[in-house]
Amino acid sequence: MVLLDGKKISNDIKNEIAEQVKKMKSRGEKVPHLAAIIVGNDGASLTYVASKVKACERVGFDSTLIRMPNTTSEIELLDKIEELNLNPDIDGFIIQLPLPKQINTQKVLLAVNPEKDVDGFHPTNFGKMALDMSTFIPATPFGILELLDRYGVETQGKHTVVIGRSHIVGRPMSILMGRKGFPGNSTVTLTHSHTKNITQITSQADIIISALGVPNFLKAEMVKDDAVVIDVGITRVIDETNEKGYYITGDVDFENVSKKASFITPVPGGVGPMTIAMLLKNTLLARERQN
Ligand code: GUN
Repeated sequence: MVLLDGKKISNDIKNEIAEQVKKMKSRGEKVPHLAAIIVGNDGASLTYVASKVKACERVGFDSTLIRMPNTTSEIELLDKIEELNLNPDIDGFIIQLPLPKQINTQKVLLAVNPEKDVDGFHPTNFGKMALDMSTFIPATPFGILELLDRYGVETQGKHTVVIGRSHIVGRPMSILMGRKGFPGNSTVTLTHSHTKNITQITSQADIIISALGVPNFLKAEMVKDDAVVIDVGITRVIDETNEKGYYITGDVDFENVSKKASFITPVPGGVGPMTIAMLLKNTLLARERQN
């Protein structure tokens, strides 16, 4: 079994990006600038956004964190987005999801200038992705592709089963794995809450990508020998004995599934850090495109 070490690969990618930023600086060019909007006080979202800002510092990007209260109206958020759309210093920005319930997420994502949409969530960018056009690929699926690529995991002709059809991970992942090229050329099954006999489907999979958010969902008996297992789940489980009051777990029963898998991502240290590295990569691309 080979561990797909997202911590190491994301560090390599950050070093590569930092090197490019150094060159940009030495040429007297503007460095990439990422902004992130977070609405409300959700602990996990605040942690993710803080990690994104910290990663910007690490590679030499400029960053701006915009915090808005939980009571923010849709109009107030749309105004802030317009401000970032028009600010020439900001190369790319993200709105951390989920948003409070008074705000329509689709309306908000539509308001982002697609040229600055480094999350790749705007329908224009999502459509381009589906049509094999050059665009911003959503960071988590992009990170998974990069992991498969850097470890030389064969995807061509393989049966990939994606668990979960979220707009952020499952849906784009199912499109990307079926695209022409590498990683891609897979035969894809997208499973979700209405899927029947899921064990029968997962046990035929060469590659399983689980993005469900249910701890220990994927058990050893659901996985065939030598399968590649990608765990996108990040769930906080309350644990008073832990210093933080919780621990992080994925969708996969790692202890038992890892005994059967050929490649597997750990949680934490697998897909999570890759997401941040690929957001930086998209921001660098946004800056390059402005030139
Ligand atoms: N919430 C969970 N994942 C993501 C992500 O990749 N981007 C944003 N903006 N919000 C998220």
